[in-house]
Amino acid sequence: MSNFSIESLEKYFKIYRKSIKKPKKFWDEIAEENFTWHMMWDKVLEFDMEKAKFTWFKNAKLNITKNCIDRHLMKRGDQTAIIFEPNDPKEEAQHITYNELYKQVSKFANVLTEQGIEKGDRVCIYLPMIPELAYAVLACARIGAVHSVVFAGFSSSALATRINDSSCKMLITSDGGFRGNKVIDLKGIADKALEDTPSIEKTLVVKRTGKEVNMKDGRDLWIAPLLEKAAGESVAAIMDAEDILFILYTSGSTGKPKGMVHTTAGYMVYAGYTFKNVFNYEKGDVYWCTADIGWITGHSYIIYGPLLNGATTVIFEGVPSYPDYSRFWEVVQKHKVNQFYTAPTAIRALAKEDIHFVQDYQLNSLKVIGSVGEPINDEAWHWYNDHVGGKRCPLVDTWWQTETGGIMISPIPFVTPTKPTYASLPLPGIQPALMDNLRNEIEGNQVTGSLCIKYPWPGIARTIWGDHQRYIDTYFSTYPGKYFTGDGALRDEVGYYRITGRVDDVVIVSGHNLGTAPIEDVINEHQSVAESAIVGYPHEVKGNALYGYVILKDLGIDRDETQVAIEINRLISDQIGPIAKLDKIQFVPGLPKTRSGKIMRRILRKIAVGETKDFGDISTLLNPEVVKDIIKHRK
Ligand code: WTA
Repeated sequence: MSNFSIESLEKYFKIYRKSIKKPKKFWDEIAEENFTWHMMWDKVLEFDMEKAKFTWFKNAKLNITKNCIDRHLMKRGDQTAIIFEPNDPKEEAQHITYNELYKQVSKFANVLTEQGIEKGDRVCIYLPMIPELAYAVLACARIGAVHSVVFAGFSSSALATRINDSSCKMLITSDGGFRGNKVIDLKGIADKALEDTPSIEKTLVVKRTGKEVNMKDGRDLWIAPLLEKAAGESVAAIMDAEDILFILYTSGSTGKPKGMVHTTAGYMVYAGYTFKNVFNYEKGDVYWCTADIGWITGHSYIIYGPLLNGATTVIFEGVPSYPDYSRFWEVVQKHKVNQFYTAPTAIRALAKEDIHFVQDYQLNSLKVIGSVGEPINDEAWHWYNDHVGGKRCPLVDTWWQTETGGIMISPIPFVTPTKPTYASLPLPGIQPALMDNLRNEIEGNQVTGSLCIKYPWPGIARTIWGDHQRYIDTYFSTYPGKYFTGDGALRDEVGYYRITGRVDDVVIVSGHNLGTAPIEDVINEHQSVAESAIVGYPHEVKGNALYGYVILKDLGIDRDETQVAIEINRLISDQIGPIAKLDKIQFVPGLPKTRSGKIMRRILRKIAVGETKDFGDISTLLNPEVVKDIIKHRK
C-alpha cells in the first residue's frame, strides 16, 4: 500500500517526484498492490503521443466488476454499497449491500446475455438516477458489453445520434423518471429516437413511474419479469486490459458529439487511485457525489471509483431545489454523509437562497467537500467553504475532463493547503505543461498558458469511437507530443494551478459542456434563419449562459422576432435538450467575419459582456461596420 495513500505534504512531494521519474514503476506498483487480476501484464505502458496510441498493462486480464463487487463480498458483503435517495423525500431510501449488489448485477447480466448481448456489443442506457442505472452499467461490464450512458435530460434526436454513432444493439430505459415536481416521459422520448435507430434490436424497460407507456411487440420488454427468472449469480467475463469498457459522449466544438472511449484496466486503476486519495475515503464513510451518472463524474465517482474502494456511495434521484432548497443538506444530515462532491453551478444556485436552508441542518458528519465541472468563483468557494464545510472541511477543487477518465489536478485533503479558486497541484503521475502561442512550453511560475499534459496516465481516453483521426486532431496535434486539454490555466508563485476556462468554442453551462457549433446547426435549420453564432457570457448561477446572434433570411416579409426566438429555443430544446437553450437572442444584419470567412467570436464574446470598445485589430474584418450595429442593439 506504500504509494496508495498520501498522508502528508512531504509524502505527496516524494511520491510525486517518484511518479514522474519512473512513471511505469509507479503505476506498476499501484496496479499490482491494489487490484485483482486474472493475469498480470507483460508491460506497464507502450505509447506514441503523436499517433495517440496508448497501451496500459499490456495483455493483462481482468474484470472490473470483480474489483468493484466480488472481492469485497468476503470482507464486507453486508456493508451498504449503494444508498438510493429517491426524488420524493417521503419515499423510503434503499440501502443496497454488496451482497445484494452482486445479486442484482448478476441478474441484470444474465438477462442481457439471454437477450443476445455479447462481449463487445454496445448497449445504450437512458435511465433516471435509480439503482437500476448502476446495475445496468455494471452488468454490461460484467459480460464485456460496452456501455454508452446517455444523460436522461437529452432529447430524442440527441439520443438517436448517440445510439447510431456507435450502433448500439440494445437500449435500456424506463417508463419515466421523477425530477423535482416533474415526471419525465423517458419511454416516449426513447420511442421517438427509436424510429430512426436501425441497430437497436431490443429495448428493456425498467418500471419507475408506473405511467402507461407504449410497448412495441418484438422489440420492447419489461425487465422486471426477466430479472425475476434470472439467476442471482454470474461468472465475470475475462477481459483484456485494453478492451473497451465504455463510450461516453462529450460535446465537440464542431460537428457531432465525440464518443470518448475508455478501456478497462487503465481506467480502473486511475478511477480507483484518485477516488481514494482525493476524497480521503476511510472505511465506513458515506460518500455522496451529486452528479448524474450520465456524465463522466458519475461514471468515475458515483459508480466505479467508490465501488473499487469498497465504499458506500449515494445515488440521488432528485434535484437540489425540491421539495425546497434544503434538500442537499437534509440528505447529508439524514445519511450522515462524510464526503460531498458537487458542482459550482449548484453551489451558486443554493447560495442565492436564504441561509436558513443550510443552517437548519446538522452537517458535522462532513469531512471533505469537493467541486467539479467548471471554475469555482471566489464567492461560491467561500460560501461553500464557510456554510457547508464549516471552515473545517478541506474543499477539493478537482480539475479533470471526460477525456482524462479521472481527477488530474486537485488538492489532497488534509495534505495540500487549499487556496480559493485554485485546483492546486497535479496528482501523482500527472505532468502538466503550460504552452504559449508559439507552442513553446512556458517554464517557471506566475505564468499563464494553454494547459497540456506531457506524459500519459492510465485513465486517458484511447480514441474517439469510429474516428481516431479526429482524436489526434483535437487533442494531439495543436502541441505535438502533448495532450491538449482545451483549457487555459495559470500557475502561481508556488506552482498551484488555477483553471481559467475553455480556450475553444465550448461553453460550460450549469456544468454541462456544450459545443456551440452543434447548437448553431440546429438554429440554422429554422426556415427563417440564414446564419447564427453563439457565444457564452458569464451568468450568476449557471456559470455561463448562451448568447445567440442570428441573421434572418431576407424573405421580403416582416417577421415577429419574439416568435422566431421562441421557435429557435423550441428547436434547440427538441434536438439537443433544454440545457442548451439561449438566454439571449439578438437578430443582427451580419456577423463580423475574417476575410477567410471565419466568424470572429472574440468580438461577439466581448459584445455579449457589454464591452463597447477595445476589440483589438478589426481592420482585418470583411465587414467592420456590422460591429457598431451589433453593439447598438445589444440585448
Ligand atoms: C471544466 C467534467 C475549472 C474544464 C469532469 C474541463 C473545470 C471541462 C474543473 C471538462 C475545475 C472541470 N475547475 N474548470 N475544477 N473541472 N472543468 O468533460 O473546462 O464534462 O475541460 O468533465 O470542465 O468537462 P467534462
